[in-house]
Order: sequence, then C-alpha cells, then structure tokens
Amino acid sequence: MDLMNYQAKAPFTQKHLLTLQDWSEDEIYQCLSHALKLKAMQKSGQKQSCLSGKTLAMIFAKSSTRTRVSFEVGTSQLGGSALFLSTADIQLGRGEPISDTAQVLSRMVDGIMIRTFKQSDLEALAKYGSIPIINGLTDEFHPCQVLADLMTIYEKKGMLKGLKLAFVGDGNNMAHSLMLGCSKLGLDVAIASPDGYKPNPVYTAWAVANAEKHGSKVTICTDPLEACKDADVLYTDVWASMGQEGEAEVRKKAFAGYQINADCLAVAKKDCIFLHCLPAHRGEEVTAEVIDGAHSVIFDEAENRLHAQKGVMALLMGNGGF
Ligand code: CP
Ligand code: NVA
Repeated sequence: MDLMNYQAKAPFTQKHLLTLQDWSEDEIYQCLSHALKLKAMQKSGQKQSCLSGKTLAMIFAKSSTRTRVSFEVGTSQLGGSALFLSTADIQLGRGEPISDTAQVLSRMVDGIMIRTFKQSDLEALAKYGSIPIINGLTDEFHPCQVLADLMTIYEKKGMLKGLKLAFVGDGNNMAHSLMLGCSKLGLDVAIASPDGYKPNPVYTAWAVANAEKHGSKVTICTDPLEACKDADVLYTDVWASMGQEGEAEVRKKAFAGYQINADCLAVAKKDCIFLHCLPAHRGEEVTAEVIDGAHSVIFDEAENRLHAQKGVMALLMGNGGF
C-alpha cells in the first residue's frame, strides 16, 4: 500500500484525539498519510502554514521530553504557536474545575494537548470546551505515540496489515494504545505480561472486536517468548509508569524476566525491528544490546512523534490542509 498517496474513503470528521478507538481505520490512514507528506515537505524545506495565527495550549500534569518538544516544534513548523502550561502553575492544579478551564481556554486558543492521569479529564475538556482536545498521554492511553509507531513501522517495513507486533511488559497505556492501533489496521498484536499486570480487559475486548473486523489477531499471554515468536516488531515500555514511582520496587520483582533481550530476538523474525516509546531503562525492560543494537529504530520512532502529531494537528486544527 502506498500510504503517502492514500485516498481517503470518507471525509475526516473527528473533532478530537482522545483514544485511537474513536478513529476509523480510514481516519488513521489519513493521519499517517499527512504525517508522511509533512515529513517529506519538512525535509525538502517546503514551508507549511496550516496553523498560521493559531495557538495550541499544552497542559502537562506529568513530565515530558518528546511530547512537549514535538508538539511545540510541530506547531511552530505549521506556522502556529504553542503555550506550555504546567498544572503546577495553572489554576487547574489548584482545583479550578475542568469545565471552567475548558470554556476559558476555548475563548483564547485553538486546541488543547493534555498529558494527565485520568482519561475522564480529557472527556470533560471535550464536553465543556469547543476546541479540539489531543491526548498527550493518560494513565489509559497514548495515541500520539502509537501514530508515530505505526508511521515508523510503515517506513521500515513498507506495509502494516499482516505484520505481527509483540509487546512485552506492563499492560499499561502503551499496551492499550498499541492493541487498539494495531487491531484497527490489521496487524496481529501479542502482549506478554505477568498475572496482575495484564491489559485492561475492557480495552482488550475492544481490540479483539477490531481485529475480528480487520482480519487480525490479538493474543494476551504470560510468556514473553510466545509473544515474540515470529514477530516483525518487538516493543516494550517501562515497568513503572509515571505516577507509579511508589510501586517501583514491587514492580521490579513482578516484571523480572519481562525483558526484550537476545532470546526474544532469536525467536522473532530475522529482520524484526525494535521500538520503545522512551524513556527507557536499559537492563530492566530491555537490554542495552537490543536497544542500542542493529534492530533498534528508536530514534527514527522518536522523530516521528513530530511528524505524526503535525498530521494530527493539520487534520484537527488546520482544516486538513498543510
Ligand atoms: N514517549 C513519550 O511520550 O516521551 P515523553 O514522556 O518524553 O513525552
Ligand atoms: N508508560 C509510560 C509511557 C511514557 C511515555 C508512562 O506512562 O510513564
């Protein structure tokens, strides 16, 4: 499939990006196609201006390197500007209601990217505000990361449907969004997690239903090597996510053995690629040998956060143009 020249089957009608489950396969492809085009334009020095005169508010209740920089740089490359708002500084962090925050920001800016804990806070922003809301990570989902991941897989493999992605580790926000994104585009996805840390069964059921519709498979298992067998893409994430720092020691024990290492590479496809959303802990969820080795494409993946999110903003805030 030539994703760069993808022909939309229907107009893009989404107002927000709260979770990939809300977007159709066609809408995800439209976004990836925009991202690939915007990347090519940026590399060849072509100016883009679809966010000219527009402002993105970026609310952060958790730390970030990639999400903050890529949204800020992406907005500026599209001709707009971005405001960094830490909840440590704005009134939201002191208890001002989400509903009031949504209505005030809707009078001043053209979109909100938010990284926070509860998915319900994003739903409230979308309900009470009148501007696009973009999920920059919650405890439940990380859709922007998965758009960048799918873009990277496409660039490296030249295809998406029919590939197998294996995720080893915590059934967390990354596992959830990978399951949803992959199942919507017809990639097989296998998640290996210890008991007690498996993905939320509600989101697993969504992914299974997506996979049935798109001719792929979702496997939830306990054995990392079972998940990695014949995989085209190996993926992992930290054992303790932001907000779980107090559980770090317990989790270190629970996740011992849930590591992408040479044994995983040995059972995966010979030409498999390794992805990680980053930040990574070498020696825990992945060995240095793998993350810094020949199969790893983590920095291409990190760069694609920029291009994928420019695609998201062009569609949601820039009327779909460039
Ligand atoms: N992968 C990711 O979202 O990175 P940051 O936490 O640095 O934004
Ligand atoms: N699961 C990690 C992802 C970081 C990008 C976290 O939520 O901290």
